Amino acid sequence: MTPDEKKKAVADAALAYVESGWVIGVGTGSTANHFIDGLAKIKGKLDGAVASSVATAERLKKHSIPVLDLNATGDLPLYVDGADESTKHLHLIKGGGGALTREKIVAAASKKFVCIADDAKLVDVLGKFPLPVEVIPMARSLVARRIVELGGQPVLREGFKTDNGNIILDVHGLSILNPPELEAKLDHLAGVVTNGLFARRPADVLLLGTDQGVKTLT
Ligand code: A5P
Repeated sequence: MTPDEKKKAVADAALAYVESGWVIGVGTGSTANHFIDGLAKIKGKLDGAVASSVATAERLKKHSIPVLDLNATGDLPLYVDGADESTKHLHLIKGGGGALTREKIVAAASKKFVCIADDAKLVDVLGKFPLPVEVIPMARSLVARRIVELGGQPVLREGFKTDNGNIILDVHGLSILNPPELEAKLDHLAGVVTNGLFARRPADVLLLGTDQGVKTLT
C-alpha cells in the first residue's frame, strides 16, 4: 500500500465514528482531506462541521457541508485530524500544515479526538519531525533565542503566514522525552501562540494505516 492509500483507508475508517445529527470538528492536511471527501458521501448525517483552517473550510464548502463557527456550536462530540508524528501514548506533533493553533482549539473543544495517520508517523520518541511553533511576528527573535536555550534549533518557515497572521518557527534537533512538560514550557514563552505538541490533550484514538489494514490504538 502507498502512504496515500493508507491515509485514505484510515480516513474511511474514521467515518464510522460520525453519528447522525452531529456537528464535528475537521482537521487539516492530506489525510484530513480524504476524510472530508468521505464525509461528502454521508453529509446527510451531519448538521455541519467546524473547520480547523481556511483550507479545510473551503473544501467542506465545496462539498456543500455547512461550516459553523465554534462560538455558535459549543463543545463538539468528535474531532478527526491527521498528525505529523504520534507515539503509542497518542502524544502528537502537529502543525506541518501550519494550522496548529486552530487545530488545538478544536481538539480542546471536542469530547473525542480521533487521529488518522499512516504507520510512518508512529515513532518511539517525538521530535524527528521539526516541531512547529506559532509565534507573534514581533517576538520571532526573542522566542528563537529561548528555544535555543531549551536545546532546539528554530528555523523560520520562509514565506509562510498562518491563518491568524503569525509566523512559524520549525524546531529541529529535539528528542522529546517528556512531551507534556515541553508543551507547557513552550506555551509559557512570551510571544508563543501555540506549539505543535498535542500531549496535554492527546488523541483519544489513533487509527493507523498499515499494510495489514487499519489498526486502532487507544
Ligand atoms: C496541519 O497543520 C497538521 O497538523 C496536519 O494534521 C499534519 O501536518 C498531517 O498532515 P498530512 O495528513 O498531510 O500528513
